[in-house]
Amino acid sequence: MVSRTEHWDAVFSAESDQDLGWYEHDAAQTLKFFKHIKLDAGQQIFLAGAGTSNLVDALFKMGCHLILNDISGQALNRLKNRLGEGDYQTLQQDMSLPLLHVKPVDIWIDRAVLHFLLDESAIEQYFDNVRASLKQDGYVLLAEFAKEGAQKCSGLPVHQYSVEEMQARLGDGFVLIESEDYLFVNPQGHERPYVYALFQRTEL
Ligand SMILES: C[S@@+](CC[C@H](N)C(=O)[O-])C[C@H]1O[C@@H](n2cnc3c(N)ncnc32)[C@H](O)[C@@H]1O
Repeated sequence: MVSRTEHWDAVFSAESDQDLGWYEHDAAQTLKFFKHIKLDAGQQIFLAGAGTSNLVDALFKMGCHLILNDISGQALNRLKNRLGEGDYQTLQQDMSLPLLHVKPVDIWIDRAVLHFLLDESAIEQYFDNVRASLKQDGYVLLAEFAKEGAQKCSGLPVHQYSVEEMQARLGDGFVLIESEDYLFVNPQGHERPYVYALFQRTEL
């Protein structure tokens, strides 16, 4: 059986960025949620599965410290080659396992990573990781396949989300700031309905 890491390494070895089914030329859909966030120099932004996303370059220019996690070493190598030197660190951890070596973060961003976790224990661990890592008043932005959306991504089955489920899994210490149903059309022309939701942590 192919492991998660092997699956993703094979994907990133086989495809150019522009051919990936989740490729976005422009990170505006994610960045628009930043209107709610007061950014200070030195804030720590954690990306749960950075892939080779152009969002990374946009955040890089905003002057925050980036913690770029991905299960795929291939993706991280490609990203590092693109970014060169800078104020970021990379981590290769599986988000369904306890997250190690991460200092408290101000902003947690996940586009199309959480929805690959299917087992209840893996999903619970993911949300435990969020709660263990996010500072008081910090933000978590989740962008996952929506309830009426596609049932597979990258050939893998997904767990579809609603805002209500995200809220319930995060728990009472998180307040919904803004959510949006967003229809992403991928490079192959297929419609991929996402749900985006930004929460703020009001209680530790
Ligand atoms: C659909 S891609 C999205 C990539 C990026 N967030 C974007 O929007 O372009 C999913 C990413 O999550 C990573 N990934 C999948 N499962 C993961 C896991 N359990 N832990 C950490 N990363 C994972 C993959 O390697 C891949 O880079």
